[in-house]
Amino acid sequence: MPPSPFLPILLVTSCYTSIVAANDSATMAEFLTTLTPPPSGWSSSTPSCTWKGITCDSSRRVTTISLASQSLSGSLPSDLTSLTSLRLLYLQRNALSGPIPNLSSLVSLQEVNLDNNNFTSVPASVFKGLAGLQNLSISNNPNLLPWTIPADLADSPALVSLQAAGSNVFRMIPEFLGSLSSFPSLRLSYNNVSGPIPSSFNGSGIQNLWLNNQLIGMDGRIDVLASMTQLQQVWLHMNKFSGPIPDLSSCHSLFDIQLRDNDLTGIVPSTLTSLPSLVSVNLDSNKLQGPMPDNPRNIKLILGDSNSFCRDVPGPCDSQVTTLLEIAAALGYPLTLAESWTGNDACAGWTYVTCQGKDVIVITLSKQGLWGTISPAFAKLTPLKSIYLNDNDLTGSIPSSLTTLTQLQTLDVSNNNLSGSVPTFPPSVSLITSGNPLIGKILGDRSSGSGGSASGGLVAGVVVAVLVLLGGIQFVLYKYYFSKRRNMKRRWTRINEHGKQGRVNDRAVASSVNQYGEIPDEMLSEGSGQGDYATGRVTTKVDVYAFGVVLMELLTGRKALDDSLPDEMTHLVAWFRRVKKEDIPKALDPTLSHLDEESMEGVYNVAELAGHCTAREPNPRPDMGHAVNVMAPLVEEWKPVARADEDSYGINVNMSLPQALERWQTDEGITGIFDSVSYSHPERSR
Ligand SMILES: *[C@@H]1O[C@H](CO)[C@@H](O)[C@H](O)[C@H]1NC(C)=O
Ligand SMILES: *[C@@H]1O[C@H](CO)[C@@H](O)[C@H](O)[C@H]1NC(C)=O
Ligand SMILES: *[C@@H]1O[C@H](CO)[C@@H](O)[C@H](O)[C@H]1NC(C)=O
Ligand SMILES: *[C@@H]1O[C@H](CO)[C@@H](O)[C@H](O)[C@H]1NC(C)=O
Ligand SMILES: *[C@@H]1O[C@H](CO)[C@@H](O)[C@H](O)[C@H]1NC(C)=O
Ligand SMILES: *[C@@H]1O[C@H](CO)[C@@H](O)[C@H](O)[C@H]1NC(C)=O
Ligand SMILES: *[C@@H]1O[C@H](CO)[C@@H](O)[C@H](O)[C@H]1NC(C)=O
Repeated sequence: MPPSPFLPILLVTSCYTSIVAANDSATMAEFLTTLTPPPSGWSSSTPSCTWKGITCDSSRRVTTISLASQSLSGSLPSDLTSLTSLRLLYLQRNALSGPIPNLSSLVSLQEVNLDNNNFTSVPASVFKGLAGLQNLSISNNPNLLPWTIPADLADSPALVSLQAAGSNVFRMIPEFLGSLSSFPSLRLSYNNVSGPIPSSFNGSGIQNLWLNNQLIGMDGRIDVLASMTQLQQVWLHMNKFSGPIPDLSSCHSLFDIQLRDNDLTGIVPSTLTSLPSLVSVNLDSNKLQGPMPDNPRNIKLILGDSNSFCRDVPGPCDSQVTTLLEIAAALGYPLTLAESWTGNDACAGWTYVTCQGKDVIVITLSKQGLWGTISPAFAKLTPLKSIYLNDNDLTGSIPSSLTTLTQLQTLDVSNNNLSGSVPTFPPSVSLITSGNPLIGKILGDRSSGSGGSASGGLVAGVVVAVLVLLGGIQFVLYKYYFSKRRNMKRRWTRINEHGKQGRVNDRAVASSVNQYGEIPDEMLSEGSGQGDYATGRVTTKVDVYAFGVVLMELLTGRKALDDSLPDEMTHLVAWFRRVKKEDIPKALDPTLSHLDEESMEGVYNVAELAGHCTAREPNPRPDMGHAVNVMAPLVEEWKPVARADEDSYGINVNMSLPQALERWQTDEGITGIFDSVSYSHPERSR
């Protein structure tokens, strides 16, 4: 009979098994020799599978070593990697010392408990390749050399619990812990962990988060807690966490949150103390602001007496205080403000604010390293005269609500990182926006498709309009119009007739036309004999009015006067003034539909400026310097799409506004608006 073809395999398999089994015995024998006293029931004369606390499988492979609370000392074998069937290793509550043994590649290992010992180091890679590890506990080993949570544990996707409190862990918590699919428990209290809660914890299923009492202190904000909806117990006390307490109302299971002794600022969310499961909250020794939290469910609530609440009983703060806190909120509740802005009277010596009587009139937050945004709430402090926010790292845009501050004289936002369009402030406001490279970047880099080209068209028009009015050579503008609208001739005639009837508004347009010629002859001959426009005397305010009309035409794609429309729409200026902001998108030239939100902001600003320029009375009309302030950022960004006509009117539309102005100044010797604040002449139309 021929030998079975399976024989060699059988031989190899049995050999392998016996060799490994022998090596488990060798490792266990070494284990025994390292421990003092020998664990009870362990003896070199009996097979290790029979020792107390040792469990083996049917192949006599060791699967469990259970030696908790045996008063053992000594150091373990440096290498347990041959125990490849080991699943559970329990050595907690002894006095074991020396390095943590090498456990790498023990893919069956599920639970390791080394708590409460006297181990001295965690050598590199001892936790590498533990593919089945679920629970690793190494807390209360105070003599470990400083070590970090090993990146090797990223190979343990089944990890559900990592406990290393009081074990000399230092440096940052690694990001991968937040990416584990099910990881409910992290306990790192009483270490020297620093840095922030990893952003990967956003949305993680952690229930038990103990990061309290770090030697130097963890820092950063704790916003991420709001997204950790499985949280039950959060201990963050004795750290350097800052910023506000987030709204934890999605954390339905949270029963215990300890936040004392940090640098937390801002208003405590009113939802906190009414969370359904909450039993215990400690907020003592922070810089929390605003109303003192109420305690509707009568939980264990510790507030201490060193926070910055406005009053020492629950209830709303003074309205001026509330507004200043809104301003602080947009800045992320900086610690410097929280330290000074305490109590319920903003005029009782708060830093960065100046009062007149009981009113805050100046806010000076220059050079404070602030980030965040400018709160629209500034507008609620109606007596404000000056706001200094310069030389910080503020982002976002200047809220248009600030234009309603009637007493405002100075708004300095220079040297930040603001973007967006600049709202139209009254001419009386000295607005300083320099040093914000992104400000006025309306269209972004994404202008594409019809939106992009449509705004390009608008922009080309606006560029030309601004340049033209600045230079005072309006005829170019009309040339531009003639090239755009075939029926201009009829239109000018109508405007002219309208002007003759003494309607001041369109007379303004007509007079500009008149003065600079370049209009059909018949208009000129018909147009003589009436007021300003007949004599050709044009004032700056009239120019501004005409500019406003042109802007409206550009925005709506409509003529200043259109008899083909229903009566209430015939007169563009009158109609446009009645259009509410929310209706502007409908009023726009159809080629300007599909603008993105940012571009629409620019359009709103131009629309607002147009309305401002065409004010009924000349006095409220802004001067051109102001118009330029509004338009200049758009000019920088809004590049014409069609370039066919460039330079044909003596204007290269690719030039920046300042470049073009410079050229004109050299050509014509006029003073530009960039030399003096305002281009306007005091002279007024009657
Ligand atoms: C088994 O362990 C002994 C020492 O205990 C070692 O000399 C031997 O090389 C090991 N055998 C295998 C196959 O690893
Ligand atoms: C632990 O064991 C693995 C595999 O045997 C080895 O590659 C590694 O170098 C060992 N690490 C230490 C610190 O001994
Ligand atoms: C821990 O080990 C150190 C020496 O490394 C020793 O001085 C100390 O007594 C040990 N502590 C305990 C509780 O065994
Ligand atoms: C790991 O710990 C959790 C509780 O923290 C427990 O439910 C689970 O059974 C433990 N895993 C093992 C393998 O013991
Ligand atoms: C705490 O950790 C920092 C680094 O994060 C280190 O510089 C410092 O020495 C550590 N302190 C102690 C006592 O280990
Ligand atoms: C968490 O993630 C969500 C969505 O992924 C995001 O909106 C939120 O801003 C993140 N929170 C923090 C604090 O990073
Ligand atoms: C300014 O803000 C933008 C985002 O709005 C950011 O991409 C950029 O890095 C910031 N620049 C500076 C210098 O902080």
